[in-house]
Amino acid sequence: MCSSYIDRLSYAVKGLLPGLLWLLAGTFVQAQDRIYQEANRPQLHFTPRAHWMNDPNGLVYLNGRYHLFYQYYPKAIDWGPMHWGHAISKDLIHWQQQPIALYPDRLGYIFSGSAVYDKNNTSGLGSKAHPPMIAIFTHHDPRKEKAGKTDVETQSIAYSLDEGKTWKKYAGNPVIANPGVRDFRDPKVFWYAPQHKWVMVVAASDRVRLYTSKNLTAWTEISQFGLGRGSHASVWECPDLFPLKAGKSTKWVLTVSEGNGGPNKGSGIQYFVGDFDGTAFVSKQTDTRWLEYGPDDYAGNSWNNTAGRRLYIGWMTNLMYAGQVPATTWRGQLTIPRKFELVKLKGRYFLCQQPIAAFEKQIRKKIGGGKISGMQAGMVSLQYEDNGYPLKISIRQKHQAASFELTFSSAAGDSLKLGFDRAKNGYYIDRQGAGNMDFAHGMGRLIWAPKITAAPCSLNILVDRNCIEVFADRGLSVMTALFFPKTPFNQVRLSKPEDSERKTAISMEAYLLRRIWANSK
Ligand code: FRU
Repeated sequence: MCSSYIDRLSYAVKGLLPGLLWLLAGTFVQAQDRIYQEANRPQLHFTPRAHWMNDPNGLVYLNGRYHLFYQYYPKAIDWGPMHWGHAISKDLIHWQQQPIALYPDRLGYIFSGSAVYDKNNTSGLGSKAHPPMIAIFTHHDPRKEKAGKTDVETQSIAYSLDEGKTWKKYAGNPVIANPGVRDFRDPKVFWYAPQHKWVMVVAASDRVRLYTSKNLTAWTEISQFGLGRGSHASVWECPDLFPLKAGKSTKWVLTVSEGNGGPNKGSGIQYFVGDFDGTAFVSKQTDTRWLEYGPDDYAGNSWNNTAGRRLYIGWMTNLMYAGQVPATTWRGQLTIPRKFELVKLKGRYFLCQQPIAAFEKQIRKKIGGGKISGMQAGMVSLQYEDNGYPLKISIRQKHQAASFELTFSSAAGDSLKLGFDRAKNGYYIDRQGAGNMDFAHGMGRLIWAPKITAAPCSLNILVDRNCIEVFADRGLSVMTALFFPKTPFNQVRLSKPEDSERKTAISMEAYLLRRIWANSK
């Protein structure tokens, strides 16, 4: 009787099993589908599947894949003991999440840093047949921090022999001891081909320090830059140093992030244009230049190993409120990957940036456009139905730069304004009415970017569910800003005020873009 009971039970379970599995799989797929579909989840910008993310780290291209590591705390939507999260992409648009790459250890949390491909196995940590990928990062020791010590931060390395899938920390860590500076972090390492050596630029409080190495394990300090140069409202972080061509000459650009003193309050990224001879970076620049003028681009860096193209990505937030932006299951997003260029205007060099060209492939359909003729004030209004799809908008003017305003609005009554004010010769964003903006108290009402050339305005604008990126005048004036509308915007209106001196026509074209996540359409 007993055995027949068991038989019957197992028969019943067998019968139910497919149904149960189907139910479980269905729930899993549904849960997956909901991820990346949540309200305010960007559809064009990288976000972690869940939990806290800050700076992009370890940007390196290898064998057809762009690697993106990032500051990650996998247990909460707030900053915590730092790990390196990891994602890869073939086109810098669609991303595949990977397992966590680096975990905190006895030397501390894994703070920001970079990654290189050690093609010639200079480190000896791989082999000729399997050259290693090397991550160079800051170890931040929370016990020393708590004890009020100075030598809290040191530089360490880890290596991977399977293109970033699995990692081992180097046994001789740290590779650079603390030189007696409390804030000593965020090493960016690159190969300096003319002298067959590695160079590191690392933030050290009120300056950057440069080191060099033949093997990535033994480092020698070679120079410093920054004391008394540019903005020093708070400590410097996340430096980068790279060459860019401007016409026939090659200049070097140093970028550094600063937690305070940014162009529109809060944090920002400044840059210096100069020369680098393998030992010292020198710059004649006397003014303070900002990589962009929006409040929400910080701790950005560029990819290594991209054959001459300088591709950049930043953390889209401001240190004034990074931990307070509205969030549910994840917090933190990155800018659109951008291509840097250097332009010489009246004897001065300017850093320009545009979204990488591959984004044009994301265009799904044109939703309309319109033109306001040169002679009058006027308005073009577009309603779009596919709520939540990212938008690309271009604005062009014909003969002269003239004032205009773009207003995005939603059914729930939220609105975001972007415009050009000719009297002030500046672009602005007004996000005060753009939904839940409580977190941004203390920031100014208007976000301003100076117009750098006198040419007619020409703008390339990306609008995602909770952010806008504005690239004006070939990327000379750039602004990135977050906002949190109650429902997605579904209307855009271009208006031109009475401006009798300015007879220029203004046109607008608007396109819906595809969503980048595999499980969204
Ligand atoms: C910049 C930063 C870096 C540091 C990291 C810690 O946002 O403060 O200087 O390495 O974040 O998460």
